Amino acid sequence: MKITKNQSLLGYNSFGINALADEFVEVEHSEEIAQLVEDHFFENRMTLFLGGGNNIVFVGDFHGTVVHLANKGIAVVDEDSDIVTVRAEAGEVWDDFVWHCLDNQWFGLENLVAIPSSIGAAAVQNIGAYGVEAKDFIVAVEAIDTVTGEKRRFSNADCRFGYRDSVFKHSETQCVITAVSFRLSKTPHLRLSYKAITDYLSANAIANPTPKQLAQCIADIRWSKLPKPEVQGSVGSFFKNPVVTASLYEGLKERFPDMVAYPAGDGYKLAAGWLIEKSGWKGRTLGRAGVYPKQALVLVNCGGCDGNDVVRLANAVIADVEAMFGVRLQPEAIIVG
Ligand code: EPU
Repeated sequence: MKITKNQSLLGYNSFGINALADEFVEVEHSEEIAQLVEDHFFENRMTLFLGGGNNIVFVGDFHGTVVHLANKGIAVVDEDSDIVTVRAEAGEVWDDFVWHCLDNQWFGLENLVAIPSSIGAAAVQNIGAYGVEAKDFIVAVEAIDTVTGEKRRFSNADCRFGYRDSVFKHSETQCVITAVSFRLSKTPHLRLSYKAITDYLSANAIANPTPKQLAQCIADIRWSKLPKPEVQGSVGSFFKNPVVTASLYEGLKERFPDMVAYPAGDGYKLAAGWLIEKSGWKGRTLGRAGVYPKQALVLVNCGGCDGNDVVRLANAVIADVEAMFGVRLQPEAIIVG
């Protein structure tokens, strides 16, 4: 296992921020984590476990140890005539996994194609798009307790998944995810209800899409609105869509009849992209960070951006949205530093 000092994190975060880590460890086998725990490596070290770095903003250098999870492997662990359980190691790239599943006729993940994520982060963040969330397919998450070295297995219920949330985002767990198992179907059950999907299919004269056609449709829709990380740095959606009470929603709807919102539990989920656009930020920049012109929920690196630029812009957007709508946006991205 290689440990490097003063490692640039530029290639390890999709925002393209050039922060340094005091120490950097690349893990290629989950057993190496168990070994590090046994060697008391994590004691007295500030440690950050990093997957694909697609949802993280480094504010300044990281004065601790970054452990990059690069363990790979995909295997079928159970199957019958209709269902297959597939286990993927945490360091696998999410999108590669989705296409691998489609190549093998294991269905369910089509709507989650092209989300920049690692397998481990997909569980941490409960990634979601077009009416589907990772939690709908996760049956087990394997992890190692970084204090005791105990190998743990979390059921779907144990993970306490929520909207872009799970138990792994909260400090009560000291576990690092090593692998995730998904329950997929050998029969396609395509979810086509989103208008963007039906519009795309009719524009392309596709009446009955195959799962791969649906995945391609979703990928095309995503990249028409979101910047490709290799072209412009971002973390995808920077904020969560806020859920507000019915009474706050009704008051806002009266003042802003074209406001975009969806019922969510007892309240309503507001489209944060709409709120940001109405607050006047869409396409604007502040320092070296900007609000993406095609999707206001996305903050982007306008060139040589650092974490302070991002935080300054995020705070300005939060303040203006709050002043206009009385709603405080919460970042979905993890801000470190
Ligand atoms: N909208 C605007 N202006 C904008 C952006 C959006 O008015 O600049 C309005 C539009 O009316 C649109 C509505 O907001 O109908 C919703 O926009 P969109 O369909 O683009 O989805 P979103 O709510 O902004 C969420 C996820 C995305 C996911 C899409 C599609 C969150 C935080 N984001 O975005 O996930 O791809 O739905 O299902 O829930 C991510 O998490 O990184 C991500 C990209």
